[in-house]
Amino acid sequence: MISTRTNVYCVIGKPVSHSLSPIMHNAAFEKIGYDGVYLAFEVEDISAAVGGIRSLGIRGVSVTIPHKVSVMSYLDEIDTTALKIGAVNTIVNRHGKLKGYNTDFQGALKALAEKSDIHGKRVLVLGAGGAARAIGFGINMEGGRLTISNRSLERGERLAEDLQASFCAPDVIERNSWDIIINTTSVGMTPETDRMPVPETILTPGQVVMDIVYNPLETLLLKTARDKGCATVDGAAMFVYQGACQFELWTAQSAPVSVMGQAVRGVLLKRK
Ligand code: ATR
Repeated sequence: MISTRTNVYCVIGKPVSHSLSPIMHNAAFEKIGYDGVYLAFEVEDISAAVGGIRSLGIRGVSVTIPHKVSVMSYLDEIDTTALKIGAVNTIVNRHGKLKGYNTDFQGALKALAEKSDIHGKRVLVLGAGGAARAIGFGINMEGGRLTISNRSLERGERLAEDLQASFCAPDVIERNSWDIIINTTSVGMTPETDRMPVPETILTPGQVVMDIVYNPLETLLLKTARDKGCATVDGAAMFVYQGACQFELWTAQSAPVSVMGQAVRGVLLKRK
């Protein structure tokens, strides 16, 4: 039951009305009997919102678009990895001191680890935004052989350089072969569900194909990959694992990952 002692958590972003984080984290709190509640706040003014976190004693926060970079300058401390990635998606409030973390890259690695090792694998990351940067960083950490491909060549080349990775222009990705392909672009997301970010011909049996899009749960890329005999990892898996890492930072308890997954997939399947 909610009382004066209940620990308060929330997501801040804009928009947040479709966020799956409240359903996921509240299901997790309930499962382990933790006295916490998780809410969603649509936030425009990030500086004022961080002031609110401090003054209200909110224990932990998920940070989403468009505040993942701008929030960093208002925190007391940033975890070394989040600093290297250049984005924070999680805040932990320890006795009034706010520390920022990035669990997006960990979420991607854990989701991928269910289907494949990464060390030594030829990994193609599609896209050059914040998600590509976080995931690319994680692939490097695990010893994957990273290549970035992006529609805007200059932006892609810049990210590849930052990550000390190779760059491959979209029109020549068919000339190479890949063990793991990760889509971080919005191509294939509702309502454009009939689009794929790569030509079908680069998908071959035995590959692992991951999509960070979870709306729909099975994108055309994942469906095509599955039909061709690839192992697939959907966007819900990454989302749940990044949430599980947040949960563990906040509560210092093991996250009930399967309950969190059921909560998220239940909503996504209904939204279909
Ligand atoms: P995020 O920070 O969430 O990763 P982002 O910064 O908006 O989001 O980046 C989105 C990525 O998806 C970019 O790499 C973008 O390519 P550009 O750099 O060329 O803009 C890519 N993207 C979005 N729509 C695309 C489309 N229709 N075709 C190909 N790439 C697309």
